[in-house]
Amino acid sequence: MAAEVLEALREIPAGWIVDCTLGLGGHSQLLLEAHPAARVLGLDVDAGNIATASARVAGFGERFTAHRTNFSGLETTLAELGIEKVSAILADLGVSSNQIADPTKGLSFDTEGPLDMRLDDRQRTTAADLVNSLSEGELADLLYLQSQERGSRRIAKRICQVRRQFRLNSTVMLARLVAAALGENPDSHRSKIHPATRTFMALRMAVNQETDSLTALLEQAPRCLMPGGRIAIISFHSVEDRLVKESFRSNATAGNYRVLTKKPLTASEEEERSNPRSRSAKMRVAERV
Ligand SMILES: C[S@@+](CC[C@H](N)C(=O)[O-])C[C@H]1O[C@@H](n2cnc3c(N)ncnc32)[C@H](O)[C@@H]1O
Repeated sequence: MAAEVLEALREIPAGWIVDCTLGLGGHSQLLLEAHPAARVLGLDVDAGNIATASARVAGFGERFTAHRTNFSGLETTLAELGIEKVSAILADLGVSSNQIADPTKGLSFDTEGPLDMRLDDRQRTTAADLVNSLSEGELADLLYLQSQERGSRRIAKRICQVRRQFRLNSTVMLARLVAAALGENPDSHRSKIHPATRTFMALRMAVNQETDSLTALLEQAPRCLMPGGRIAIISFHSVEDRLVKESFRSNATAGNYRVLTKKPLTASEEEERSNPRSRSAKMRVAERV
């Protein structure tokens, strides 16, 4: 949603723009080009993505700074860097395509890899740890609450049956187990989406504590933005979009924000055709009063 991001952040005061999800640096590069007087601080938990993005925008010199940290600590990070208030906060939640394609991260159900799913490899808990240690009830709740998986109980039951025989530690092994629990053939499943899609999303969100991080970011953002500064959040999931909507609404009631998007912005048809991931993207924007 590059054009939408640029438009949302077109009229911002001079100062620091924080790209909370640097990824491969696409949004940071566009913002550096569009705002010649601005400086961009890029945050990410993934060291590989920080390196790739930093090389991409190296030509902007001191106007770009990267920091390997979780955006849930935004306020502390800004204080450590001596930045008082910022002119914009952008977050493009979730994972980048290269992370999904990297078999060592274990994010893809159709590529063999370890059941890891950590975006930040300094973290200890992996998806295999959750799958092999949570109780049947905890697993079912996790799958249902994080991704509204309707077959959560059947999947949790099957996981617990199988793990009595051996530790579940591979992506393809889990994907096949989930398909079997739902009575689907993983190689020719009925719907267009793979039966393990929601299970993988729920586990990834739990491993990386994605909703907690977003909640923390939304709570700190009004204190970090200067008047006229803007916050834009792109989410790919109804749980996340609801958190953003409710935070913006309560901050508007408290007199902190003016909400600029009554309804969330979505990707253009052209972008949806060229980038299927953008089909579920929703962007909300607010301005600090
Ligand atoms: C969808 S990608 C961002 C793509 C980016 N906008 C671009 O133009 O290349 C999301 C990125 O955010 C990072 N990420 C996810 N959750 C994070 C968090 N809580 N704190 C910091 N980075 C996070 C991921 O590692 C990934 O690199």
